[in-house]
Order: sequence, then structure tokens, then C-alpha cells
Amino acid sequence: MTAIPTISSTPDDVTIKPRNRKFQIEAALASDWFANDPFHTAVFNAFSISFPTGEKEFMDSVRNFESEIDDEKLLAEVRGFYQQEGIHTREHLRYNRMLCAARGYDLADLEGVFLKLQEWMQNDPRATPQVRLAATVGLEHFTASFAEILLKTDYLDTADPALRELWQWHSLEEMEHKAVAFDVFNEVCSDHKMRRRVMRVAFFMLMRRVLTVTLKMLRHDKQVWKWQTLKSAARFFFSRTGFVRQYLPRHNEFFRDDFHPWQSDTRDLLEEWKPRLAAA
Ligand SMILES: [Fe+2]
Ligand SMILES: [Fe+2]
Repeated sequence: MTAIPTISSTPDDVTIKPRNRKFQIEAALASDWFANDPFHTAVFNAFSISFPTGEKEFMDSVRNFESEIDDEKLLAEVRGFYQQEGIHTREHLRYNRMLCAARGYDLADLEGVFLKLQEWMQNDPRATPQVRLAATVGLEHFTASFAEILLKTDYLDTADPALRELWQWHSLEEMEHKAVAFDVFNEVCSDHKMRRRVMRVAFFMLMRRVLTVTLKMLRHDKQVWKWQTLKSAARFFFSRTGFVRQYLPRHNEFFRDDFHPWQSDTRDLLEEWKPRLAAA
């Protein structure tokens, strides 16, 4: 039997289906749940604050082009992508509410950092639907690479078990749907010079805001000028096993002419993690 040609590049044995999970994280969120380390805890909490706004923007930017897609396989994957991101948003909204209640952070102030960016995206004439989709493609590459680091290495070993599972669950689904926005972009725009240009700006904008929120949290907890914080930040940015140096080679891959998310074939990793994170 000949395979039906499709513009979707997600391998046939990868299914994009949400796992409707809830995590008992309330007690741990009150503490420095990541290795008893204020800096690493604040960085991950800051990413969590970014997700509800970010993932809504990801879904909206794909939805803008949905009517131009008639490939059944890709359309089904787009629906799976919305469902996965929708449940991630629900769980991170819960996470963020509990985090701010437990630690006394001002949720509106922290969310505002990302809402301002979203507002800019929606109103600046330079942020055309194509540019917004390209930003999603770039940041989905970042989240999929982030996910791969978390699932492939012992990075999360010292995290609280409930929060570790939440981050692993989110990571698994980010890897499953990593090519959806890319395939839509390839079909409706395919300007790869623009894709690379937008990634440079979008990545910088996101990181600047994640670090702003991290600093706000550390300042609130009076942890900024502590030796442990500075040491931990240095490890995060500069150490060989730190996050930034593990991520950088993956970031550079995005700037190749022939880049594609599934050039990094992560099916073995998915198979390894799927039974451990099955729907509850
Ligand atoms: Fe997500
Ligand atoms: Fe995603």
C-alpha cells in the first residue's frame, strides 16, 4: 500500500494526545523545591509564569492559519497541539496561583511582564500573523530542546518529586508536538530567513522577561545578593552541565537552512517516558 503524502513531518508512530493530569504541588511550591536552591527554583517558577500567556499566543498564532491547512494528518496534529497546550495552560495557571499565594508574590505584577509582550505582539504592525507564527516556531524549538534536556539528563533529579513529574509531563508533550507549528509555517509561509531573524528577537524578548520575573521573585525573597544565589546563577549560565551550555548547541541548530525539529529523532526518549507519565 502506498502511503498518502502529507505535509506533516511528525513520524507516524508519534501521537499528539493530551494526558489530563493534575499534580499535588501546593506544599512544595511554598519551598525552594528545586534542590533547595532559590535561584533554580525562581528560574523554573518564572518559566511557569510565562506559560499561560505564551502558550495562548502559540495557539492563536497557529489558529490564524488553520483555515489554510487541508492536510488531514496535520489538522489532527494541530488539534492535538491545542489540547496539549490548553491543559498545560490550565495546570500552570493553577501552579502560578498556588505559588503566589504560598510565597506572597504579586501574581498580577509577574503575569503583567508577559502580558505586555503579548499586547505588543497583537498591536504592533511589524508583528504580522506570519511573524507571530515564526516566533511560535522558534519558541517551540526552545521548549522542545528544554524538554529534551530535562528528560535526557539528571537535571531534575534534585527537584521535589511532584514538581519533577509536572515538568516531565509537560516536557514529554512538548517533544510530541514539536513540529506542528513548524509544519504549518512551512506550508503557509516558508520564509526561512524570516524564521531565523524572528527567532533571534523572540528568544531575546522571552529570556529578558523570564530573568526579570526571576529577579522579582529573588528580590521579594531577599535572596539576590546571597553567595548561594550567585554561585547557582554562575552554574546555570556557565557550567558545562548548566542549562545554558546544554541548550546552546540546540539553539544554533535552528539557524541552519535545512533545520527541521525531527532532525533530532527523540522517539526513543518518548517511548522511554510514555509509560512513566501515562494519564492518571
Ligand atoms: Fe506546553
Ligand atoms: Fe508547545
